[in-house]
Amino acid sequence: MKFLSHRISWIEPSPLAKVLGRISELSKAGFKVISLAAGDPDPDVVPRKILAEISSYVIENIPGSVLYTPTTGVEDLRIELSKFIKEYDGYEAYPENIIITSGSTAALDLLIRILIDPGDIVVVENPSYVVSLYAFKQLGANLVGVDVYSDGIDTYTLEDKIRRLKNEGKKIKLIYTIPTGQNPSGATMSIDKRRHLLEIASKYDLLIIEDMAYNYVVLEGSSPPTIKSFDREDRVIPIGTLSKIMGTGFRVGWVVATDLIKKYVVSEKQPIDYCAPAISQYIAIEFLRRDVHKISIERSREVYRVKRDVMIRSIEEKIREAEFSKPVAGMFLMLRLPNVDGTLFAENLMEKYKVAVLPGKPFYTDDKGRDMIRLNFSRPSIDDIKEAVDKIGVLYRELKS
Ligand SMILES: Cc1ncc(COP(=O)(O)O)c(C=O)c1O
Repeated sequence: MKFLSHRISWIEPSPLAKVLGRISELSKAGFKVISLAAGDPDPDVVPRKILAEISSYVIENIPGSVLYTPTTGVEDLRIELSKFIKEYDGYEAYPENIIITSGSTAALDLLIRILIDPGDIVVVENPSYVVSLYAFKQLGANLVGVDVYSDGIDTYTLEDKIRRLKNEGKKIKLIYTIPTGQNPSGATMSIDKRRHLLEIASKYDLLIIEDMAYNYVVLEGSSPPTIKSFDREDRVIPIGTLSKIMGTGFRVGWVVATDLIKKYVVSEKQPIDYCAPAISQYIAIEFLRRDVHKISIERSREVYRVKRDVMIRSIEEKIREAEFSKPVAGMFLMLRLPNVDGTLFAENLMEKYKVAVLPGKPFYTDDKGRDMIRLNFSRPSIDDIKEAVDKIGVLYRELKS
């Protein structure tokens, strides 16, 4: 179409949007669809009753909750987040360096806009969060993937790749990582690798964007220290979100930025959405002030651990050939179904058995995810997890026979 910009030529349809669209069509047509597709929390784990009280308190008593807020966000929320970050992420974020965004999705998009020129190389984990990969690609970055194992990215291969690219004169700007409860692999990076990654970034003068989306969804043991907590050079730019513990629908995320980065993030942000939703920001203040986050974090840990274990047991019983590693944090499990095309499998599963999953391939920068699907275990009920895995097993056997 003649009115579209040139940039449109490298925009691909998002697999997540496609699946979510199909779920809504099928639901409208009266089908019950079990969704293991998106990274939503269980709405019954989120303390909805308390949030309902907070919401009406906020709307009744705080006129600003229905108005614009400063583009950087409401000051009281930045103060509360500064305390929260210190407690849970172990680093110092001054309120004046926190910018509240419409979810951390917007935080990443804004950072890419101000840091990346078309053609710049961004190093990502392979696999990595599909929406982030699309955000980088849509703004012209060239992605270089480095494989992830159950203890995180292979930092030695990472360094080799960076050295080689630098020797070829390529412009590498940053490394994007999700060290805890990685989406989609479920991996949590070891402390040694976190330190090594930072050393490499320092040695080759690169930035790191540390995506902390699952820092508060740690299912076993304690949260490992963030990479940011080791950073003495302002090399790590943290992005975070309350989505996974307060609810994805509120759209409260943030970026912690130096004064320079903050200046440009704010200039980019204002023409996009002016500010993150005011009502959500004021609810978030009370969510943190009244310690509701503590209830949610504790419940998430207990409930999602049980759901993860139910999913794993069902897979072990029903799909013996499947390969996966057990996540200790986050909301996902990546399943390899040997000798099956994951994309076709996900399509068939949706159309025939009304179970929604995401194909593994779009999470990868190469072809490694072709026989994989990603499963979410936080949102579906225990019964739905069992039924969904059962159907995955049935379809797998059908396709193999
Ligand atoms: C790794 C990662 N980062 C960021 C996000 C986005 O979160 P938000 O709802 O804050 O935009 C997600 C959501 O699934 C995620 O998995």
